[in-house]
Amino acid sequence: MLHGRSVLLVIGGGIAAFKCLDLIRRLREQGARVVPVMTRAASEFVTPLSVSALAGEKVFQELFDLDDEAEMGHIQLSRAADLVIVAPATADLMAKMAQGIGGDLATTLLLATDKPVLIVPAMNVKMWEHPATQRNLETLQGDGIAVVGPDVGNMACGEVGPGRMAEVPTIIEAATDILRNGPLARRHILVTSGPTHEPIDPVRYIANRSSGAQGTAIAQALVALGARVSFVTGPASAPMPAGCDIIQVETAAEMMAAVQAALPADGAVFAAAVADWRVASASDRKIKKDGKGGLPVLEFAENPDILATVSQLEKGRPELVIGFAAETDTVIAHATAKLKRKGCDWIVANDVSPETGIMGGSENAVTVISADAADVWPRMSKDDVARKLAGKIAEVLGDG
Ligand code: CTP
Repeated sequence: MLHGRSVLLVIGGGIAAFKCLDLIRRLREQGARVVPVMTRAASEFVTPLSVSALAGEKVFQELFDLDDEAEMGHIQLSRAADLVIVAPATADLMAKMAQGIGGDLATTLLLATDKPVLIVPAMNVKMWEHPATQRNLETLQGDGIAVVGPDVGNMACGEVGPGRMAEVPTIIEAATDILRNGPLARRHILVTSGPTHEPIDPVRYIANRSSGAQGTAIAQALVALGARVSFVTGPASAPMPAGCDIIQVETAAEMMAAVQAALPADGAVFAAAVADWRVASASDRKIKKDGKGGLPVLEFAENPDILATVSQLEKGRPELVIGFAAETDTVIAHATAKLKRKGCDWIVANDVSPETGIMGGSENAVTVISADAADVWPRMSKDDVARKLAGKIAEVLGDG
């Protein structure tokens, strides 16, 4: 979700500043660019060198640094980011922000920015509970500034109570929520993708030719429309989509469990090519030749039908459930029967006969079937199918 986004990170002068090093790493892992700004007090707690090394960027510290002004003025710096995070937001920084004081680079940037601001307070419990800080907090929230934390717990000063800086994953979640926009911004959508591998023994398995390309493209297109996407994938060869919660599984049974754990969701797209059968009792040792030319016999058991299970949930069924129908003949008739049998809302039907080159290829030709319509789309790239499908999903689940 933070892929390609830019975060201006204002590091305040408090003991919790050390957590910013991890915050920078995690923000970058999520694909964000982090431009660090440190107050003078912050550099008493963490060194500009470590901040700069982790961010892979120059650290901005001084308002009247002529070089910086020549390269990039403070106004421009405050506007170049998609989001400004202040962490730790000390009582002093909060007070200055609430009063509109801009005496140094950090506070001037905070006054000049036209981007969303997220503050992460951290201070001694008495300072946090002080009426002045609480007044400032109210003022800042009234100004539209988002706040995450503080947490309750043991503090560096030995006291216990609210004042600990929020943990890094919580900060990332808050940042992601702010940056999410688009018609699906408040929606959670589950996507299954890829093949499943059903073990025969520790070294052998049954698989299928799905690359996961269509599922990845759908997840990516939904993220682009602002959705929070849980991406449950089998061992796919396609790259993982950026900005999703990725849950990797091997077998159909694991995929079923991961889907159940990821619910509730507003929508679910079942693009995975799930194995219908598994080997009933996979051997826990490698199956050896018996030396007499005897052949092993594999007995199969049926896998759970994930799409049908979720479609038929009495409680917590997603508002929109979409399945795929990979067929090699009488595509529309088979797919329409599948829609009814499984109980989903739409079926995306495609012809996966080898001559179409669709399975494992980069293009797809689909018909989107619902109870009362069949929408035939021309052959196009899997990315375009994904974008068109995400757009159709947004017509049902989107904000308008
Ligand atoms: N599916 C699923 N769980 C299964 C099998 C299939 O969730 N155990 C989902 C697929 O993700 C897809 C849809 O069901 O969205 C249809 O998959 P497909 O393989 O085309 O159909 P099958 O149910 O396997 O039916 P058939 O083998 O008769 O074609």
